Amino acid sequence: MQRLSRKLKAENKSIGFVPTMGFLHEGHISLVKKSKQKSNVTVVSIFVNPAQFAPNEDFKKYPRDLRHDKNLLKTIGTDYLFIPEVSEVYQTNYQTFVEVDEISRILEGEFRPFHFKGVATILSILFNCVLPDYTFFGQKDAQQVAVIRQMIKDLKFTTEIIACPIVREKDGLAMSSRNIYLSINERSDALVLFKALKLAEKLVMEGERLADIIISKMINEINSIDSSKIDYVRIVDVDKFSQVDSLISGSRYYFLIACKIGNTRLIDNVIIKVS
Ligand code: PAF
Repeated sequence: MQRLSRKLKAENKSIGFVPTMGFLHEGHISLVKKSKQKSNVTVVSIFVNPAQFAPNEDFKKYPRDLRHDKNLLKTIGTDYLFIPEVSEVYQTNYQTFVEVDEISRILEGEFRPFHFKGVATILSILFNCVLPDYTFFGQKDAQQVAVIRQMIKDLKFTTEIIACPIVREKDGLAMSSRNIYLSINERSDALVLFKALKLAEKLVMEGERLADIIISKMINEINSIDSSKIDYVRIVDVDKFSQVDSLISGSRYYFLIACKIGNTRLIDNVIIKVS
C-alpha cells in the first residue's frame, strides 16, 4: 500500500482516504463520493480493528460482508480497496499505541475507556500506509473526529481531516453498521434518539438556553421508550468539546446522545447554532 501511495504521489496525484470497518452503507458511500470529488485517487480501507473493542464488546460479531462491500465500491468507482489482515497490522510482538489524552477520556471515553486509543493507533498505522492528502470521516462519530484532529495536530500528520454530514434513513435514524443488530421493534424504538435531538432543536428555537433543562427533557423523551438505556446526553462546545451550562447566542454546540436500545449501543448527534 505504501509503495503504491508513493508512486501515486510521484505522479502528483492527490490521495483521498476513507477508513472503514466495512459492512458499508449510504453513510460510507457519501464519504467515498466526497473523496472522489476532492482527490485524484480514492482509497477505502476495510479493517475491523480489534484494538478499539473492549473484551465485552462486539468485535467477534461485528457485521462483515466483504462481497457486498466490494460490489458497492466497484459500482461507485473506488480506485483502491485496502483490506489488511489483523496479523499484518499487529504483527507478533506489536508494542506501540497512540493515546490522545484529555479528549479521549470524556463522553465515549467514560463508557469505552480504551476505545480511542485503539482508534488513534489504527489510524496512525493506516495514515502511514496510505499517505492520504485528505481523510474523510462521518460526523456521527463527532468525538472520533475531534480526537483525530487533535492527534493530527499533535503528531504532525499531514493529512487534512474532512468531516461529512450524518446520513439518515428516511425516518431519521442515523445510518450505522450496528443498526443490523436491531429487531423490528427495536428499530422503531431507536427513532427516539432522533426525536430527542429534534426536541432539543425545538427547545433552542423557542429560546431555551439552559443546558440542564434541555438535557432533562431529552432524557425524559428517551426514557419513555422501555428498551432504552441512556449512557449520556450532553451538550458540548463544538470546538473544545467541553460541557456547557448555558447556550450563548452565535455559538455552535454538539448535542450528543449515547444510548442502548435493547443490547445495541447507538450514538447520534446534531450541531445547533444558537441564533
Ligand atoms: O469509524 C470507524 O469505522 C472506525 O473507528 C475507523 C475510523 C475505521 C477506525 O477503525
